[in-house]
Amino acid sequence: MQKNILIIGACGQIGTELTYTLREKYGSDVVIASDIREGNEPLMHSGPFELLDATDYDALEEVIAYHEINEVYLMAAMLSATAEKFPMRAWSLNMNSLFNVLNLAKEEKVSKIFWPSSIAVFGPNTPKDNTPQNTIMEPSTVYGISKQSGERWCEYYHNKYGVDVRSLRYPGLISWKTMPGGGTTDYAVEIYHKALSDGSYTCFLNAGTKLPMMFMDDAIRATLELMESDSEKIQIRSAYNLAAMSFTPSEVAHSIASHIPEFKIRYEPDTRQAIADSWPSSIDDSKAEKDWGWKAKFDLKRTTAEMLKNLKV
Ligand SMILES: NC(=O)c1ccc[n+]([C@@H]2O[C@H](COP(=O)([O-])OP(=O)(O)OC[C@H]3O[C@@H](n4cnc5c(N)ncnc54)[C@H](O)[C@@H]3O)[C@@H](O)[C@H]2O)c1
Repeated sequence: MQKNILIIGACGQIGTELTYTLREKYGSDVVIASDIREGNEPLMHSGPFELLDATDYDALEEVIAYHEINEVYLMAAMLSATAEKFPMRAWSLNMNSLFNVLNLAKEEKVSKIFWPSSIAVFGPNTPKDNTPQNTIMEPSTVYGISKQSGERWCEYYHNKYGVDVRSLRYPGLISWKTMPGGGTTDYAVEIYHKALSDGSYTCFLNAGTKLPMMFMDDAIRATLELMESDSEKIQIRSAYNLAAMSFTPSEVAHSIASHIPEFKIRYEPDTRQAIADSWPSSIDDSKAEKDWGWKAKFDLKRTTAEMLKNLKV
């Protein structure tokens, strides 16, 4: 069957790179990018684009029918730091967009869904180190509550209605093509930009705040590998733990200083510190490795080299 893909929230940090990669793999014409706003020039010129509100069921249904879509990547969401400022808007966007897509799949209008979860599903009572797949969760942020609820609904729609939905608990993602969109791990992208433009950075988290992180190339590869796996291999229909590396702001600063010796960092923690403190330090992703062969390729050293090389030009 011809694969026709819709990416919702395609202009964001992940959606942009996901769109490029899927277009390279399957061809530009069969990968429809959509968002509530227009994206950057390269994205807008790389293939078809639809202005689309993920919370509008009828509009979504129309786009899916028009382009004969069978696979949906739902990347639209309000992220952790912004969601704390607008709790009800975050809940409404994060849940309604997911229900719309799950219900379209239930009605057999699409056959496969990717929806990202996050390490934010874990909370202050979760074991912090090497956090297992199944453990105490109790998220304490609006974003985390929406992601944990989303996971439960994904599993429910799979078990009850046979919906082929797949999900990953992404760690903080580091990329150079698009800026991050209001998360707690945004510092780990901003720091590289500021290192090159100003030679210094004021970090909104404490020096020792260790969080799970991943370079974007690994995250996109994990997403495609999960989506291409045989359905029988996907034993977890809530969301898989996914990991690559864990580091602190001080460790990134040292890693940058090995390329830019004069680089200086200062710490002025703000409200995002409390969010970061509620999350795990490192993640056990052995289930992803066992079920569909996941293995990360980028550590901090390699990530720093890639970020500085690509942002310099
Ligand atoms: N970036 C990370 O580090 C990270 C980590 C864990 C999970 N995630 C998850 O991955 C997904 C994508 O994250 P991202 O970092 O690319 O986010 P982002 O904020 O960069 O992008 C989200 C996109 O959704 C769009 N959007 C917002 N409201 C919309 C609506 N009503 N209809 C259609 N589009 C709408 C925005 O315009 C934006 O382009 C989210 O579900 C997020 O929770 C991201």
